[in-house]
Amino acid sequence: MPDVKLAPSLLAADFADLAGEIASARDCGAKLLHLDVMDNHFVPNLSFGPKIMAAVRKLTDLKVIVHLMVADPKSLVEAFVDAGADGILAHAELPGCREALELARRKGASPGAAVNPETRPAAMESFLDVAEHVLVMTVHPGFGGQTILPEVFDKIGDVRRLVGERLDMAVDGGVTVENAARIVALGANVIVAGTAFFGAADRKLAARRLVGG
Ligand code: DX5
Ligand code: ZN
Repeated sequence: MPDVKLAPSLLAADFADLAGEIASARDCGAKLLHLDVMDNHFVPNLSFGPKIMAAVRKLTDLKVIVHLMVADPKSLVEAFVDAGADGILAHAELPGCREALELARRKGASPGAAVNPETRPAAMESFLDVAEHVLVMTVHPGFGGQTILPEVFDKIGDVRRLVGERLDMAVDGGVTVENAARIVALGANVIVAGTAFFGAADRKLAARRLVGG
């Protein structure tokens, strides 16, 4: 299985100092950045658009995975990839998910399938021919700083068994320095962390513990 990577979720960053926050993530060993795009339809919150992706692109060469928590992901793939996204996550619950992933791949971005906490792992199956990475939501999407849903822990192992050892599998939502080692042991090799990283007093220590160190 690929080594464990930290993907700080910028939703929890201080957007008044995006340059400093991204530099901090890089200095703490982050391998990826996670950008949560919300449209106030698929989730009850609104975050940011392609212009923020373009701003992040100018600030770093870290790979940026854009998590499209939007009702019509295919309509936004082109704009975010053109703005510099390296990967696109679309939700398997949506009828347009496959089209979004195929478009992302055609545009040269890495396509990933995401599932919400209440969605059965089997929903991932129909995307395994196109997805290059997957993501398991461990909170109801829309907000950072939530507590992980304990009933989702078993699902992490189920999805890892379903997708095999080759694909990167991210866990996203409510990951902390206390539960990260268990999540890694269950098969996650990408840790998406917003509050647990950007809200940490000692981010270097938090980064180490979040990847199961
Ligand atoms: C929630 C987002 C998550 C969130 C993670 O809808 O998908 O990426 O930002 O934030 P924390 O780590 O604070 O739960
Ligand atoms: Zn996310």
